[in-house]
Amino acid sequence: MNRAVYWHKSIPSTMIEAARLAADGCPSGTIVGSDEQTAGQGRLGRAWHSAPGDGLYVSYIARVSNLPARTLAAGIAARAAIHTAAAVTCDLRWPNDLLANNKKCGGILVNAEPAALIVGIGINVNHERFPADLTAVATSLRIETGHTVNRDILLDALSNELDIWLPRPPKELIAEFERVSSYARGKRVTADDTLIGTTAGLDEHGFLLVRQNNGKLTRVLAGNVRPAP
Ligand code: BTN
Repeated sequence: MNRAVYWHKSIPSTMIEAARLAADGCPSGTIVGSDEQTAGQGRLGRAWHSAPGDGLYVSYIARVSNLPARTLAAGIAARAAIHTAAAVTCDLRWPNDLLANNKKCGGILVNAEPAALIVGIGINVNHERFPADLTAVATSLRIETGHTVNRDILLDALSNELDIWLPRPPKELIAEFERVSSYARGKRVTADDTLIGTTAGLDEHGFLLVRQNNGKLTRVLAGNVRPAP
């Protein structure tokens, strides 16, 4: 695809710049990236650690609808790109955390703006270490492989995989997520520290189903899914 890539040295967040470009009418598939983010945004209102030069921080503007399934598509695409560029096979924690050896090596934030979906992807590429509060839960492709990973090759693979996966029908995305994620079925999890149960697949929209011990099946609409202690 012939696309525009707007690259910055340092900006607050690629999400903000991408939303601005989307409102201005840029084509679907446009990418905004930055070597550093000074106010990187994570899911659920959290911050995203965006050390200069070490990570891949990009937002992809997608003129598609059907949010829950697109959120899955972004994780599936990022997982495939990481495999191509670094030969690391990631697990996907619903909805779309990228895990290597049970630690997070990438995260995805999808914002529905009036003009488009903004798919924000942060991948820990060449970090050698993390701040103390993240060490137990975060890893990078460099830590996992023992060598540096080329960010340009990763960006190229990521852009191509997003082009491929984002428009796919929800049914196909749900089937692929269930194929590659250990979280989709049979995993004991907590959701938002309130619900505890065993995962039972995704519903037709892409929401996670969790069966509690009393047999009740609950749909997780968003939130923080973690392995049950
Ligand atoms: C998460 O909490 O797991 C989602 C993290 C998403 C981070 C990416 S980095 C590129 C884009 N710009 C942001 O400010 N956030 C997303």
